[in-house]
Amino acid sequence: MTIMKVLRRRSLAVFAVGLAIAAARAQSVPNTIMVPTLRGDLPLVIGHRGAAGHRPEHTITSYELAIDYGADFIEPDLVATKDGVLIARHENDLSSTTDVAEKFPARRATKTIDGKTTAGYFSEDFALAEIKSLRAKERLPFRNQGWNGVFEIPTLQEVIDLAKRKSQEQGRVIGIYPETKHPSYFRSIELALEPRLLQVLAANGYTGFEAPVFVQSFEVKNLIELGKVTTLRLIQLMDDAKGQPYDFVLAGDRRTYGDLMTPGGLSTIAAYAHGIGPTKRSIVPQGFHGALLAPTSLVADAHTAGLVVHPYTFRDEPAFLAPDYRRDPIREYLQFYKLGVDGVFSDFADTALRARNLLRR
Ligand code: G3P
Ligand code: CA
Repeated sequence: MTIMKVLRRRSLAVFAVGLAIAAARAQSVPNTIMVPTLRGDLPLVIGHRGAAGHRPEHTITSYELAIDYGADFIEPDLVATKDGVLIARHENDLSSTTDVAEKFPARRATKTIDGKTTAGYFSEDFALAEIKSLRAKERLPFRNQGWNGVFEIPTLQEVIDLAKRKSQEQGRVIGIYPETKHPSYFRSIELALEPRLLQVLAANGYTGFEAPVFVQSFEVKNLIELGKVTTLRLIQLMDDAKGQPYDFVLAGDRRTYGDLMTPGGLSTIAAYAHGIGPTKRSIVPQGFHGALLAPTSLVADAHTAGLVVHPYTFRDEPAFLAPDYRRDPIREYLQFYKLGVDGVFSDFADTALRARNLLRR
């Protein structure tokens, strides 16, 4: 592609974003809350990996766009570098979202992470200075590839700096929603994520329940341990019902996420966490040919246990939408908002906000 084509594509993208931001803001007049969330608030919009539907995930530009759309929180997934710095990546294998293979071909390695053997280029084999020489690329082939090679990989500190700067600029509090990725693995190679996370958060004044922070994990033990040393709000992520937290696998604990979703499991979670982050399908299951089934009682059960519910991941593209929504992601958001979810992880904060604005009269 010529440079002119790239520039044209980018200016068109910037124009489209401007329109979307204006549309989202034009409807944002506060009024009556009509959804049964745990505390009666409007559901939070969490910019999943930033605005990953529009920009390469986990880049400052992606997070900034989510904020400009109006997201309440931005979500950095966290892994560690060789020198122990937390950076925003969805997995420690950097192959799918950076140009690492072109820049460091000799650094390829084969490792077993959370029981899966993978060949790739791993964050823990790179110093931060090396990570900073990489550039992000779009993971999904059907999304815009025009930004590949442009953006750096941010540190957690840089994500926090952005949230604070934009909070000041916009006169509202923009929260951060960090996730510890592969926590047992990182602990096993002496790069434990949790103390580093708490240190960075504390250095930025994020220390207690009231801080605009949720810390999330698919594992259980690290959240329980965190709950002993911090009053920050913790969110227990949950994969499909048959899956298991990997720390359970390591410990020989046979409980599944399905067990954690029962009323008994939820009351166990309520002893250490503020809420849960289940898949959408745990709330609205799909049956034959992807047809939606009746909602489960998970939202009501979690609320009974005193837990907020933040399901993932909402995406506009037809590939991710159940046929019942007839290619209209607003229908999906409205269904979940009306079921009382307390927040949504969305790749398209603009759409999530547009749908939320429809809840206000
Ligand atoms: O953290 C919520 C959601 O992001 C979990 O899925 O795989 O996108 O981190 P993942
Ligand atoms: Ca995540």
